[in-house]
Amino acid sequence: MEAQKQDLAAALAKELPLDEETVFGLIIPCKLPEHGDLSFPCFTLAKSMRKNPALIARELAEKFTDHPVGTVTAAGPYLNVKLDESNIAAKTLTDIFDSEQYGSSDKGEGQTIVIDYSSPNIAKPFGIGHLRSTVIGRAIKNLFEYQGYKVIGINHLGDWGTQFGLMIAAWKRWSDEYDENKDPVDQFYKFYVKINALTREDKSVKEEARGYFRKLEEGDEEATKLWHFFRDTSLEEFEKIYKLLGVQFEYKQGEAFYNDKMEPILKKICDKGLAEESEGALIVDLDKRDTNLGKVLLKKGDGATLYATRDLTAAYYRAETFKPAKILYVVGMPQKQHFHQFFKVIELMGEEWASGLNYVGFGHYVGMSTRGGTLVFLREVLDRTSAMAKEIAQGLKSREQIELTDEEVNTVAQAVGIGAVIFFDLKSRRAKDLEFDFDRLLNLKGDTGPYVQWTYARCCGILRKNDREITADVDFSLITGDEARALLKMLLRFPAQAQKALDQYEPSLIASYLLDLSRAANSFIHVNNVIKSEDGLRNARALLIHCTRKVLGQGLKILGIEALEKM
Ligand code: ARG
Repeated sequence: MEAQKQDLAAALAKELPLDEETVFGLIIPCKLPEHGDLSFPCFTLAKSMRKNPALIARELAEKFTDHPVGTVTAAGPYLNVKLDESNIAAKTLTDIFDSEQYGSSDKGEGQTIVIDYSSPNIAKPFGIGHLRSTVIGRAIKNLFEYQGYKVIGINHLGDWGTQFGLMIAAWKRWSDEYDENKDPVDQFYKFYVKINALTREDKSVKEEARGYFRKLEEGDEEATKLWHFFRDTSLEEFEKIYKLLGVQFEYKQGEAFYNDKMEPILKKICDKGLAEESEGALIVDLDKRDTNLGKVLLKKGDGATLYATRDLTAAYYRAETFKPAKILYVVGMPQKQHFHQFFKVIELMGEEWASGLNYVGFGHYVGMSTRGGTLVFLREVLDRTSAMAKEIAQGLKSREQIELTDEEVNTVAQAVGIGAVIFFDLKSRRAKDLEFDFDRLLNLKGDTGPYVQWTYARCCGILRKNDREITADVDFSLITGDEARALLKMLLRFPAQAQKALDQYEPSLIASYLLDLSRAANSFIHVNNVIKSEDGLRNARALLIHCTRKVLGQGLKILGIEALEKM
């Protein structure tokens, strides 16, 4: 009865100020069979809900008049449940079959979410941290959209700052060495490293760079042209990564976008009396305001603005332009302090929308050399999956006599390789560091994206062989056995899981769910033949496979992973 207890806990937790685990711990078996199977005592809720337990039980029972868990009745302070198995199957499968997107809702209708993600730096390598931000950010974006929110994705490019003065100084010296046929970002970065080294030997280079940056700020034609060149060329390179990942942004508003918007914001902060001068610079001293957040530098002695100045300005711009319910920032843990600092400044400014600012941090990859950059890494993964794809094609040929074209084999290689990278990233809680390992990434039978994709394709294969129209008009009482029950239970959990993943900004809850669902599906398939069963049973089982395939597909889509019909 554990499985049903879990289902009941999940269903009740949605209605109560308790989490699923707590509810689960409170559920007891009914003493007398005529009362039902499971019982939930409402005493503990009386205090927090300020209602008497009997009333709580009655109100809950009303909410569950028509629920797949079974027949729910109130008996004094107890909520009693008589489980109905075929009812669970009927409700769940009909629900999935009928819905366009099972577990989606319009809860977020009329609300906008801004999500700041990916955000690499111009003329610098697109790092693994940026890859993580891109993958996690996109999945969170999808989770919001699943619940009906309008989501605006912004790529906050690092396209401004004194380093562009250095870049121009480098270009002036070494542009002859630039080779259009080689990786541009890699070459820019080498220039950057080289010029930085030079500033240590020759102090005048720093002055020179400062001069170029000033020119850039003043809109000097040549400096601006070079800046555009660095930016456009880098972006073109980054686009290759976005294309592989299938990521798009509503806006690419980098730091430079806020250049002409900072002064009014700085003035606002000064007018409020928050900013002060310190050694010629303009700062907000948060320590003075009972926080342990240190000092925020808004303007340097020479008048130059900083990363934080642009983030403050960007937050105001977004709040005013999009009127979002929330603004999320998906950025690695090392920047946690920076975000908490400028969120605090906005809070101290008394802005109502400050409470909607959310820092969504993540850990880093360990044990992986990314010297070649992210694109090189992704291409290496694809190299490895192209051999895998050929094996997959051979399997299809011998199993189903399906012959894939070369192009289709390539599609498989790409979907599997990219899917593996995305899944690996999203599998663990985002705050955790990831230990990189190629074998664990690509193992078709491990805790991997390819395993989930393979399970999806396996369901597709069964449905292909079944070759009958799927209907929800089946005899649900034929769906029996532990494996079927476990699979149904998993399917029933999906809506709550999607909501939980959204509440915690934790796509890993979808990834781990998909692994559980895949395991449950494969166990079911292992012991329940669909095609060889007689008619009624065959239709019922085929419906279950159809629904499983659908939920797997939706989960993968949320994560940004392609599902393949044949693999
Ligand atoms: N470009 C920054 C970096 O690579 C990340 C920007 C994150 N977003 C932001 N609004 N600060 O470190």
